[in-house]
Amino acid sequence: MKLGIVILAAGQGTRMRSRLPKVLHTLAGKPLLAHVVDSAAALDPAQIVVVFGHGGARVPEALPDPRLQWVEQAQQLGTGHAVTQAMPMLADSDKVLILYGDVPLISGATLQALLAAARDAALALLTVCLEDPTGYGRILRGPQGAIERIVEHKDATEDQRRISEINTGILVAERSSLERWLEKIGTDNTQGEYYLTDIIALAVAEGVDVQTLTTTDATEVMGVNDPVQLAHLERVYQRAQAEALMRQGVTLHDPARFDLRGRLEAGQDVVIDVNVLLEGDVSLGSDVYVGANTVIRNARIGAGAQILENSVIEDAIIGGQCRIGPFARIRPQTRLSDGVHVGNFVELKKTEVAAGSKINHLSYVGDASIGSGVNVGAGTITCNYDGANKHQTVIGDGAFIGSDTQLVAPVEIGAGATIGAGSTITQDAPSDTLTLSRACQESVPGWKRPVKAVKKRG
Ligand code: UD1
Ligand code: CA
Repeated sequence: MKLGIVILAAGQGTRMRSRLPKVLHTLAGKPLLAHVVDSAAALDPAQIVVVFGHGGARVPEALPDPRLQWVEQAQQLGTGHAVTQAMPMLADSDKVLILYGDVPLISGATLQALLAAARDAALALLTVCLEDPTGYGRILRGPQGAIERIVEHKDATEDQRRISEINTGILVAERSSLERWLEKIGTDNTQGEYYLTDIIALAVAEGVDVQTLTTTDATEVMGVNDPVQLAHLERVYQRAQAEALMRQGVTLHDPARFDLRGRLEAGQDVVIDVNVLLEGDVSLGSDVYVGANTVIRNARIGAGAQILENSVIEDAIIGGQCRIGPFARIRPQTRLSDGVHVGNFVELKKTEVAAGSKINHLSYVGDASIGSGVNVGAGTITCNYDGANKHQTVIGDGAFIGSDTQLVAPVEIGAGATIGAGSTITQDAPSDTLTLSRACQESVPGWKRPVKAVKKRG
């Protein structure tokens, strides 16, 4: 069986009140539409066709995915009209699955079950029962319980509006039958639109097998229409991710205050404190501790490392047993070997630090290569930028950089060198030698502080 998937993503999403097309709004850092594409791709279909419209080329440009074919629905004349636009591209498919770009959490298991229900049927429709079905298309069933048709909320009578079983919109149809039904649907309804839902009554009239599958998980078929619903689904999604991680053995001090926007690979006995945000591809080795209010983006943290609270790490590799923070900022292209300590108010950029070195307080180190066992004193600054170009600072193994030192790059500090506190180093400093640049200290005997002049009266 050849499966074709159509994802409807042409609608305007007026209630988002945004200039960004609705399907490009993100959930867990990824566009809504990308969630649906991934669920679709997991079914290994022969093709995926996305119907776009509102927002124009911005939607296809935002998802340059070779698995996708795009078709434009210039005017949004209804869901039936939208599917019709995709049909010419699906000539080779036997079955067609319809998904929605703004229904991001549909599960693979449910889609598999719907495909199974459609195996020997001309049509299989996914439904759900809602406490408040307002706004949705209602499922009308006959005396034996067989589905007869769908009536849209706006077209429904008071009695029909009391039905709690609704149309999720997600369905699987035989390609050839779908084509035939779509040709027959009209716009004779309250909204004057081509309703995809009209194909149900057409199929029933033909006497073909029409199946329904009812999911018990309302969130997986929930659409995003406004920012409130988007935030709701974000929490649902984050909660599910957090629970999956906890089941793998990760300790989350509060799963409600943990966000993962990407993928996390975690070793054993990882502990994550509250308000941590992980983005992109993050890997945490065994026994890693991540302190409160920390952001880690595209980084690998080695086993036993401690990332203390309020640290920000991006595009970096942190070795095992490192101690970072609190209040450290590790910027892209930084690589720390094992056992490195980076303390508060230290910023590292494009810097390599070998094993066991320490930069513990108030420093900026950028475009640098630091050997092992180096101690970088408080307030050390690499002056790496001359206003036009970036220059490199190299510090050899075992060097000691005194506090409040400026290393004016390009400059090299030899292995075992000591730099006296308060130095401005503009030339290479030799190994195993004390180098300092400092104005001489002076004391002035008998000097008195000035006193405030007292004004005489009269
Ligand atoms: C639709 C269903 C309704 C169902 C509900 C579930 C129809 C007629 N009604 O109603 O039975 O309960 O979804 O959420 O199908 N779209 C296009 N092009 C169009 C129109 C819509 O791409 O011309 C896309 C929208 O972007 C959206 C989806 O199709 O993703 C659904 O359209 P929407 O207008 O929201 O349909 P509903 O009125 O909610
Ligand atoms: Ca909708």
